[in-house]
Amino acid sequence: MTTMPLGVKTTAHSTGAAARATDLSKVYGEGETQVIALDSVSVEFRQAEFTAIMGPSGSGKSTLMHCMAGLDTISSGSARIGDVELTTLKDKKLTQLRRDKIGFIFQAFNLLPTLNALENITLPMDIAGRKADQAWLDQVVATVGLAGRLKHRPNQLSGGQQQRVAVARALAGQPEIIFADEPTGNLDSRSGAEVLGFLRNSVRELGQTIVMVTHDPVAASYSDRVVFLADGRIVDELRSPTADSVLDRMKRFDAKGRTS
Ligand SMILES: Nc1ncnc2c1ncn2[C@@H]1O[C@H](COP(=O)(O)OP(=O)(O)OP(=O)(O)O)[C@@H](O)[C@H]1O
Ligand SMILES: [Mg+2]
Repeated sequence: MTTMPLGVKTTAHSTGAAARATDLSKVYGEGETQVIALDSVSVEFRQAEFTAIMGPSGSGKSTLMHCMAGLDTISSGSARIGDVELTTLKDKKLTQLRRDKIGFIFQAFNLLPTLNALENITLPMDIAGRKADQAWLDQVVATVGLAGRLKHRPNQLSGGQQQRVAVARALAGQPEIIFADEPTGNLDSRSGAEVLGFLRNSVRELGQTIVMVTHDPVAASYSDRVVFLADGRIVDELRSPTADSVLDRMKRFDAKGRTS
């Protein structure tokens, strides 16, 4: 495989943070049905770092990703992508920022059934009227192992192949940051390992910034850092995780939850 001499992406006045939440709260509903999904969360996602977000179901992981990616509004606090405060942006600017700076990998792939794999990969750029860097696109396609499947439509691809199309789509435009919500949740362990290995390489070799939600300690072990959420708050953090150390930490929370 050839790798391109791409360095770590930096922005003017770079603080090293690709994204940052400060005292971010998200409240759904009101009165008796009110849910505090995020309770004053402060967290920074550094450039060229691979962060995993873990925590029990309902702890606010998807909400955090959606708020940071500008897919949902926040109730209070601040959410920044680079130096841009999302709460100050009007709809049009927010759409533009999402399109130009953010890649999102959803658990349900979100591929368009009528487009083939290649058209799905380049769709965000086509919408933005941007031309893909051909060498980069070739490299992404080769690395996710889709070179022989580019003319296939999603229903002609396996689940793992569809997820790799979604991964390639997020990477193709070289966004500042990629948010991935359980990108390997639907994959068998081998396809999952391929996708995770690819994500990790894009961080190591290309300076891509990635934030990934996962329930799986093995998936988390591909990251540089694990952030643990519980009840809408950040309760712990682990650097250079291994599957065992993540599992250990999860057990500890479990025990605490049961005794309290
Ligand atoms: N649109 C909504 N309206 C009301 N409550 C919501 C909405 N979306 C999420 N919630 C609530 O916010 C809390 C956090 O939800 P979120 O989807 O972020 O959890 P999660 O950590 O991603 O869970 P999972 O692991 O099951 O995906 C939950 O209690 C959920 O019921
Ligand atoms: Mg979720």
